[in-house]
Amino acid sequence: MKKLLLLTSGGDCPGLNGVIRAVVKAAEHDGNWQVYGSRRAYCGVLETPNDIVHLTNELIAGIHVRGGTILETVNKGNPIAFPINVDGKHLLVDRSKELIEKLAELGFDAVINIGGDGSHKVSQHLFEHGLNIVGVPKTIDNDLYGTDYTIGFQTAVDTATEAIDRLIPTAQSHNRVIITEVMGRDAGWICLHSAIAAGAEVALIPEIPYDIEAIKAKLTSRFDKGHGFANIVVSEGAKSLAGSVVSKQSNELGYENPVLGGIAEQLASQIRVALDLDVRVTVLGHIQRGGTPNAFDRVLAAEFGVQAFELVKQGRFGFIPVSKDGEIKPISLKEATSEYRVIPSEHSLITSARAMGICLGD
Ligand code: F6P
Repeated sequence: MKKLLLLTSGGDCPGLNGVIRAVVKAAEHDGNWQVYGSRRAYCGVLETPNDIVHLTNELIAGIHVRGGTILETVNKGNPIAFPINVDGKHLLVDRSKELIEKLAELGFDAVINIGGDGSHKVSQHLFEHGLNIVGVPKTIDNDLYGTDYTIGFQTAVDTATEAIDRLIPTAQSHNRVIITEVMGRDAGWICLHSAIAAGAEVALIPEIPYDIEAIKAKLTSRFDKGHGFANIVVSEGAKSLAGSVVSKQSNELGYENPVLGGIAEQLASQIRVALDLDVRVTVLGHIQRGGTPNAFDRVLAAEFGVQAFELVKQGRFGFIPVSKDGEIKPISLKEATSEYRVIPSEHSLITSARAMGICLGD
């Protein structure tokens, strides 16, 4: 029997368990592979003793409907810059060679890493250094290049839309402007989808720096027409024309990204100064990462899992299945990590939003 190792890395999202289950089921159907899982991304391999679990049918039964990941995950366990503590000093060390050697010692023939852009950059590095690795695209942000959809995105859009739906009646009752801050570091997919789905008046995305004057004009005209409330959706990675992304540095060793958050409060202050309106802010945060995956994400998870296993069987390492124009097909990890998938300015989502009078802040 050949041995396959599965892991989830980076931020979690709904649908990860569905991929795990699909890989295990496909391997069982194939009959030639045993599937194991490394807990907390590569930490399960690098720790002594290791924390690797045999993924039996009992363990994966019914997990596709559960959020999170049964394998747990970390976003500060990059094996190329792994956080360690030496005599009270925190250091980042390259443990990728050790990782590849350990996997060989443990008898693994291949690895499937379910991750986002950062994880797949690591996978590409490990592939170039001899590891038999295949990727699976996940992130609620939907910003992985080469795929129309990543696992978790559609569920996050449903969650954000439901939240905005709930905020509209309270905005209406109190004649307020309500600003909802959603996730999306570099791309405004969650923001634009949920703003259109919920019928918001303003949607501010990282791709289009906003001009406060444009938002003032939109709100003034709306209130002048007698609509006594307004809803604004803003991506955490949005910024004003004159400003910059609102973030703070993490003090967690090995955490590579700035921690985003706070643009909604900043915008609320700008609106309060400019207009005599009551403004309230709701930050959805990690609520968008939790919950039961919707049917779309369950199906996508199943297809990605099966196709990733097919790539392993065929020995096509350094690849990742993506969803493109309604089909699941493989592209190289190199291509998938070549850039972020942001919303192009001519995308139909942008033109449709504009056509319906949604202010995009420009
Ligand atoms: O990449 C997905 C994402 O949800 C981003 O939108 C967000 O900024 C980030 O993860 C937060 O990650 P965490 O809190 O897990 O570090």
